[in-house]
Amino acid sequence: IATMRNLEKREALEREAGPALDKTLEIKELDVGSEESIRRCVDSIPQRKVDVLVNNAGVGMIGPVESHSMASVQRLFDTNFFGVVRLIREIYPDMKRRREGHIVVMSSVLGLQGLFFNDFYCASKFAVEGFFESLALQALKFGVNISLIEPGPVISEFERKLYEEVKNLDLSAVDKETQDLFQGLYMSYSKDVFTALGQSSEEVAEHTMKVITSEKPPFRYQTNSLYTPITTLKHADPSGILPLNAFHQMVFQHDRLFKASLSLLKMLQWKKRRDLDHGRGRGP
Ligand SMILES: NC(=O)c1ccc[n+]([C@@H]2O[C@H](COP(=O)([O-])OP(=O)(O)OC[C@H]3O[C@@H](n4cnc5c(N)ncnc54)[C@H](OP(=O)(O)O)[C@@H]3O)[C@@H](O)[C@H]2O)c1
Repeated sequence: IATMRNLEKREALEREAGPALDKTLEIKELDVGSEESIRRCVDSIPQRKVDVLVNNAGVGMIGPVESHSMASVQRLFDTNFFGVVRLIREIYPDMKRRREGHIVVMSSVLGLQGLFFNDFYCASKFAVEGFFESLALQALKFGVNISLIEPGPVISEFERKLYEEVKNLDLSAVDKETQDLFQGLYMSYSKDVFTALGQSSEEVAEHTMKVITSEKPPFRYQTNSLYTPITTLKHADPSGILPLNAFHQMVFQHDRLFKASLSLLKMLQWKKRRDLDHGRGRGP
């Protein structure tokens, strides 16, 4: 069962589903912001039996902290954190009763590691990580597995929506130096990082499928090995100074080297995608 909050957007999925539509794939309405909508969807499933729950809905947010209203920060948490909590409250008790089930959650490497100008988004994904790290032990006792999928940058609608929102950010309360850091430095790095390190949604889906079908599902699973050294820094130094200094030097002192590494990675990514397209017969 695939769900979406707005069924008017179902056409692309129906096209991809092809002959599976209404045979092995059903599309249902579900808004993670509404307990009623979640209940309606779960009640429509025979015996309310969900074997594997994949929490994927999420929204991004970038920009200086002063540029976002409290209402928009609360909306972000309402989807990224409370949305997951609403689903769990509806589905986890049934899984406990049956003593089986698998909860798969689309977290992010930004649930492990903070990032410049992603303060609120990181906080929402840290909340997800903390919640499930706490729940995982109890779940294990009931035979329920939990897996957090932690992608790095993914080239999807997410990125397009973020850049669209940046155009309408209210920077009037933000000092000039922070504005320059955000618009001049962050935005150019962000686009380079997405092109250099970005995975496709299909790649992340394939990794997710691997986690779902594995005999002993991992609790944490990073989909992008290029990003792993960055998250590892944090565990190497409990004082937190090592990752902070590493980021500081990378962005402010060795920025040329950083940009050159990104350019090299971009070229490798381009080559990888070209080879993949050839392999799938999509190349020129
Ligand atoms: N893209 C990245 O770089 C990246 C990296 C790491 C992790 N992630 C995480 O991966 C997940 C998927 O993101 P994506 O990259 O595929 O972005 P996306 O293309 O923007 O997809 C996000 C989906 O969430 C849905 N959604 C938002 N609010 C919802 C709600 N209240 N109820 C139900 N659905 C809702 C959106 O539906 P509408 O079309 O109706 O808005 C959209 O289909 C998110 O949790 C994101 O945080 C993304």
